[in-house]
Amino acid sequence: MSEYSDVVETARSYYNSEDADNFYFNVWGGEDIHIGLYKDEQEPIRDASRRTVAELADRLETAGPDSEVIDLGGAYGGSPRYVAGQYGCHVVSLNLSEVQNRRARQQNEEYGMADKVTVVDGDFENVPYDDNSFDIVWSQDSFLHSGNRLAVLKEIERVLKPGGELLFTDPMQEDNIAQDAEKLQPVLKRLSLDTLGSPGFYQQELAQLGFEHIEFDDKSDQLPRHYGRVREELLSRYDELTGTRIGKDYVDSMLEGLAAWVEAGKAGLLRWGFIHARLKQ
Ligand SMILES: C[S@@+](CC[C@H](N)C(=O)[O-])C[C@H]1O[C@@H](n2cnc3c(N)ncnc32)[C@H](O)[C@@H]1O
Repeated sequence: MSEYSDVVETARSYYNSEDADNFYFNVWGGEDIHIGLYKDEQEPIRDASRRTVAELADRLETAGPDSEVIDLGGAYGGSPRYVAGQYGCHVVSLNLSEVQNRRARQQNEEYGMADKVTVVDGDFENVPYDDNSFDIVWSQDSFLHSGNRLAVLKEIERVLKPGGELLFTDPMQEDNIAQDAEKLQPVLKRLSLDTLGSPGFYQQELAQLGFEHIEFDDKSDQLPRHYGRVREELLSRYDELTGTRIGKDYVDSMLEGLAAWVEAGKAGLLRWGFIHARLKQ
């Protein structure tokens, strides 16, 4: 029996499946499986996704060679390796999917980063580290999978040292969604979710937990753009992908799900951007 809650187990089996692993690794962005920052409509997904990591890393105010960093939901390890390379620090990549983690460890070896990035199998609702273990908590597009985002924020507060830095992105719903909530159902269905976080939710809960200098840098226009680009890529490689690496049912359902995200994003129901905060000393 799994030690994880039902929602967490759903995310785990989803990302561990061969279809999802092949899709995210080969189509979404390779090392990076998050929303990209696009210069224009033509830019390759990989380049735009890398730009997100680079811009986020530039935002860090306290990082240095002695920093202890944790990435919650580090997947294939692209961001942990980037941050470790940029600042010379040690990064823990805590991630639920053992399949992704195997690829991440292999890539760490290939890039000569195995001593700088430690990949840990685990759940960010129960971070397997002592209180005050980290200087920086980083996360990209992962908290959407949680059934208990408040528990995740409490875990972040617990493992951060006083004065520690939190920097994350997450696909969210807009704050005043009430009358449009039904329209989000196709979006939530794609990943078997009940809700998404929102900028207001995160800002309010982080303040309650003792964070300060809480900022949301709204880059919501990138969300429908990114999901649209992934959809186009999937469509243009449909025969190749369904003929070899990914099941047709998975691709068809992904195309439908991505269309729902693009539509909801264009309708202004979704939010995405950088959330940055410091825990009080
Ligand atoms: C969209 S991917 C983003 C991955 C990575 N942060 C990136 O930007 O490339 C979401 C990731 O969240 C991870 N995840 C989902 N729920 C988790 C949980 N409860 N604990 C740890 N990782 C989780 C999944 O394994 C998946 O790799």
